[in-house]
Amino acid sequence: MTTKDWWKESVVYQVYPKSFQDSDGDGFGDLRGIINRLDYLKELGIDVLWLCPVYQSPMDDGGYDISDYYTIDERFGTNEEMDELLEKANRLGIKVLMDLVVNHTSDEHEWFQKALADPDSKYRDYYIFREGVDGNPPNNWRSYFGDAAWEKVPNEENLFYLHAFTKKQPDLNWENEEVREEIYKMINHWLDKGLGGFRIDAILNIKKEIEYGQLEVDGEDGRAFIGHWILNKPGIEEWLEEMQERTFRPHNSMTVAEADVPEERLAEYIGEDGYYSMVFDFSYTDIDVPATGEWFVDSNWTWQQMRERIFNSQLMTQRNGWGALYLENHDQPRSINKYIPVEHINDYSKKMLATLFMCLRGTPFIYQGQEIGMENITLADIDTFDDVATYAQYYRGIASGLTEEEALKIVNHRSRDNSRTPMQWDSTQQAGFSGAETTWFPVNSNYETINVENEWNNPNSVLHYYRQLIALRKNSPYQENLIYGEFVPVAEKNKEVIVYERQLEGQIIRVLINPTSVEQRVKHDGLNYFVIGNYPVENDMLEESFVLRPFESIVLANYGG
Ligand code: NOJ
Repeated sequence: MTTKDWWKESVVYQVYPKSFQDSDGDGFGDLRGIINRLDYLKELGIDVLWLCPVYQSPMDDGGYDISDYYTIDERFGTNEEMDELLEKANRLGIKVLMDLVVNHTSDEHEWFQKALADPDSKYRDYYIFREGVDGNPPNNWRSYFGDAAWEKVPNEENLFYLHAFTKKQPDLNWENEEVREEIYKMINHWLDKGLGGFRIDAILNIKKEIEYGQLEVDGEDGRAFIGHWILNKPGIEEWLEEMQERTFRPHNSMTVAEADVPEERLAEYIGEDGYYSMVFDFSYTDIDVPATGEWFVDSNWTWQQMRERIFNSQLMTQRNGWGALYLENHDQPRSINKYIPVEHINDYSKKMLATLFMCLRGTPFIYQGQEIGMENITLADIDTFDDVATYAQYYRGIASGLTEEEALKIVNHRSRDNSRTPMQWDSTQQAGFSGAETTWFPVNSNYETINVENEWNNPNSVLHYYRQLIALRKNSPYQENLIYGEFVPVAEKNKEVIVYERQLEGQIIRVLINPTSVEQRVKHDGLNYFVIGNYPVENDMLEESFVLRPFESIVLANYGG
């Protein structure tokens, strides 16, 4: 029996602050804009808000390069406005999560600057500096973003620092106790302000097993993927436990870690006394990315694999603890473009994905704009993109033989900038995101049809469908089962469909999903209550078997209210 916790019963909404709402006309989203939109979030029905980083940052990697953990970046506003946001959100019954980025800082952080300036400074040991080998960097690791993971220290003969992400994100040295103390102090500073908890970035990378020299090459660039040496290495558990002990546990925080943990270690992370409330599992959101993480190569996935991955992920999480559900975030393109061929993108397919996702077991995370069915943007020129990782993949693609045109097409399809376009609020200029002539990133040209205002006024919109799905978890005869019920895969003879149940003390909810563009027959055995669906329901549904129309999703139950 699953124990009850507030964060299991929550629905989370993720905001990418740069693109949510600009209030001062500089084309850049800000905290005041978020404060002004809290009532919308309340109406949507969510009760936790996750803010991507708003700390001071040069924004080399969208704020995941922090130069001061204690100060709100002035483009977002002030520390006082952050307090106001927390206060108003808490008043509305919305808990706030901030992003915790402690695998690395910005190279502009005072610690790193001091480390560079003075070889004898204690800050040298705050980061990972190593001597080169035979005139080369310490080894041939490829960073997560595709270039070398070691950067030469300016003005030093043979010294390099490690960066698992961009060279403007030097990795912190967690072996140093003083670094850990600084981090715990900072976490407690924010939690003491009444924060609900944190989303924790890249945390599996904090323990490194550094080997020197030329390691086994796995790409035509002569490098080796860094993940093999820095992901979830033995010894990491001591620091994760220590962090939990010193910060999250005493505050009863909600914590969700970006941590793709193998099953044998999952209970340690998400079990009753785990390091975190839940973790994000990448298995089905990264189904289109090959194991090397290099997405300029297509993985050629199928829906049958997708079903298998969802089922495995659900069962594995259920055996070990609690999970976070998501289809989109700021590191993913829009889900509708990922999962559905462009000619079939419409409200049916969008609502189908919403149903598939929102009825699974776990805490749902809805990414801004997902609730109105926002889509990928198409940009004509690589220079219009903003994201460092996108550039890296574009150039890696070209180096591997793609033409510029092919690489641009891939980037338009897979870049995470697709989800970072400004939020579409209405059909006025800049989609109601900003009063500025130009915004930091272009608004998607489909904003006149896809926007909050239009969808709010249309009871059949994707937005209202999301509201209904949220309400099912909040205030309906199905809420207990949708939250705490067991996840049970249903073995349909028809392999083209995805069918699963949620079961709780004899109560059954069955979710039937047709992810294809053709009709699919499924069996029907006595679940006579209609819960929700994306097509009008007809009487022949009560036959022994029935047909799911293209991209139909329907939820039935053996009970109702
Ligand atoms: C994961 C974050 O979600 C992503 O946006 C960022 O680029 C990396 N971690 C590095 O912090």
